[in-house]
Amino acid sequence: MKIADIDLGNRPVVLAPMEDVTDQAFRLLCKEFGASMVYSEFVSADALIRSVNRSLEKIKVDDNERPVAIQIYGRDVESMVEAAKIVEAEARPDILDINFGCPVKKVAGKGAGSGMLKNVPLLLDITKAVVDAVKVPVTVKTRLGWDCDDLKVPNRLSDERAFVVELAERLQDCGIKALTLHGRTRSQMYQGEADWTLIGEVKNNPRMTIPIIGNGDICTAEQAENAFNTYGVDAVMIGRATFGQPWLFKDVRTYLDTGKHDDTMTLDWKFDVLKRQVEKSVEYSLREDNALKERKRTELGGIIHVRRHLANSPLFKGIPDFKQTRIKILQAESKDALFALLDEAKEKISSFYGI
Ligand SMILES: Cc1cc2nc3c(=O)[nH]c(=O)nc-3n(C[C@H](O)[C@H](O)[C@H](O)COP(=O)(O)O)c2cc1C
Repeated sequence: MKIADIDLGNRPVVLAPMEDVTDQAFRLLCKEFGASMVYSEFVSADALIRSVNRSLEKIKVDDNERPVAIQIYGRDVESMVEAAKIVEAEARPDILDINFGCPVKKVAGKGAGSGMLKNVPLLLDITKAVVDAVKVPVTVKTRLGWDCDDLKVPNRLSDERAFVVELAERLQDCGIKALTLHGRTRSQMYQGEADWTLIGEVKNNPRMTIPIIGNGDICTAEQAENAFNTYGVDAVMIGRATFGQPWLFKDVRTYLDTGKHDDTMTLDWKFDVLKRQVEKSVEYSLREDNALKERKRTELGGIIHVRRHLANSPLFKGIPDFKQTRIKILQAESKDALFALLDEAKEKISSFYGI
């Protein structure tokens, strides 16, 4: 499958953009384990224009993570065009993705992210202007609509079809090179189940020629395969299921390519991966070209950044009497202390599983 001339291979599986999760350290590991493409955390167009350190940090790209998409969000044409040009010049990503899906109040409430779904003319103006302003392929990630009214037929864009089917056509007409759909509306936030039927409807609309990337609730290799087989999507995007297990891509990739799960990943190996993730996160936090202010460039800064992964890693789920170890892991303030606790955790888990 190709986005513009970027070849993502057969049945690609990509890492979703996730704020405070898909930093460079994590993206590199996901790439190493088989993610076909990785996305940055979203970056505010306004913050980029003001050269806010954290935003400059977010758009840094390492050649080893390519193909990589940098995602931006904003609420007016001028700032989005300016931010797109900054990203193209500074980061040279393979893809520039526009976020029209973020549901959180501080973004959507101001009309950006999924807030744009309430102002489709502006959403399309921004998309067209960004496409025209840069050479890098532009893609869009969005949701099925603003609320459940958008799922009904007729709707406010068309008398005959679901909102997102029409929206997808109009976005394609703006010149985007791929569209990612998270199968929920804004008002659903993350509740209920993602509706893949509508994603399939967009994909199977004969007018659509650009790749459709399906997203929402994919946690296993079987679910990824089912998304390809049942809904015909061109690629599958995985988000939350990757927390604390970048190796998920290795299993999904192996399964899609061979029909078998990857049974080479031992507990020791997985703990080594988690440690490498901590190492990398600390390394990035301390590196000299880091745009963060001096006081934030600490070992602790790198550790704090991986805590969400450690808190959610499936390695620690279902282990009896594990609460205290888990709390200690999440409170560790140095790499040495954290690694000692991870070793302790590994022992407990090995003895629980008898391995
Ligand atoms: C912590 C978190 C941060 C997220 N940040 C972003 C973001 O920056 N940009 C974006 O387009 N989506 C963001 N998302 C949405 C995910 O990309 C994805 O669409 C959503 O989690 C559904 O996929 P999943 O069920 O595989 O997790 C975020 C989701 C989570 C849980």
